[in-house]
Amino acid sequence: MNLTQLAHDLISENFNIDSSSQSNNVSKKITYAIDATCGNGNDSLFLAEHSKYLLCFDIQAEATKRTQALLAPESLGCSIEYLEMGHENILEQVTARQINSQIDVVMFNLGFLPKSDHQHITTSQTSTVQALQQSMQCLSNNGVISLLCYRGHDGGAEEFDAVNASLKQTGDDWQIQQFDSAKATDTTPVLLFVKRTA
Ligand SMILES: C[S@@+](CC[C@H](N)C(=O)[O-])C[C@H]1O[C@@H](n2cnc3c(N)ncnc32)[C@H](O)[C@@H]1O
Repeated sequence: MNLTQLAHDLISENFNIDSSSQSNNVSKKITYAIDATCGNGNDSLFLAEHSKYLLCFDIQAEATKRTQALLAPESLGCSIEYLEMGHENILEQVTARQINSQIDVVMFNLGFLPKSDHQHITTSQTSTVQALQQSMQCLSNNGVISLLCYRGHDGGAEEFDAVNASLKQTGDDWQIQQFDSAKATDTTPVLLFVKRTA
C-alpha cells in the first residue's frame, strides 16, 4: 500500500469512516479539516468527501487551480475555502474563523508540486515545523495530523529530521506513529501520524 493511501485509511479509521461509501452532509464524520499543502488536490478530495468544512492551503496559484478543478463542492456537500498562502498562517486563519480546538484533521503532503514548472518550490523545514506546531494547537480532542515526508529531494531529509525533533518534544497527550515505505532506505518517504489523546 502506498503511504498516501495509508494516510487516508488511518484518518478513516480514526473517525469510523466507511471509505467505500461517500458520506452525505448529514453523515459526515469530520467537521473541520485542513489540507496544509493542497497541490494536485488528491488529499483535498478525500477530505472534502468526509468533512463539512475544508480549508485548502498552498503557496502556489497553480496548486489552488488544480485542486479547484478536481473538487466540486455541490456534489461533495462540503464548504471549501482556498487560501493561497503558506501553511505557517494556519493558526491566524483558524483564529479568524473562531474554530480553534475544533480542527479534526490536518494533512501535510510535503515536498513539491508534481509536474509543475516550479519543482524548486518545496516546503521548508522552518515553516513546516511552525505549521505543525500551530496545527497541534488547533486540534480537537481525538484530532489527527498526517505528515507525508519525502526524503529524496534537496532538504527533504533535513525537513523530516526537523519534524521528528519537534514531535519528540510533545508530551503524553500525543500518540505518534511512523510508517515506512516497503524496502525503506534513508531516502524513501515516511508517513508520520499524530493523534491527540487527551
Ligand atoms: C507534494 S505537493 C502536495 C500534494 C497534494 N497534497 C495532493 O494530494 O496532490 C506539496 C505542495 O506543497 C506546497 N507548498 C510548499 N510550501 C508551502 C507552504 N509553506 N505552505 C503551503 N503549501 C506549500 C507546494 O506548492 C506543493 O503544491
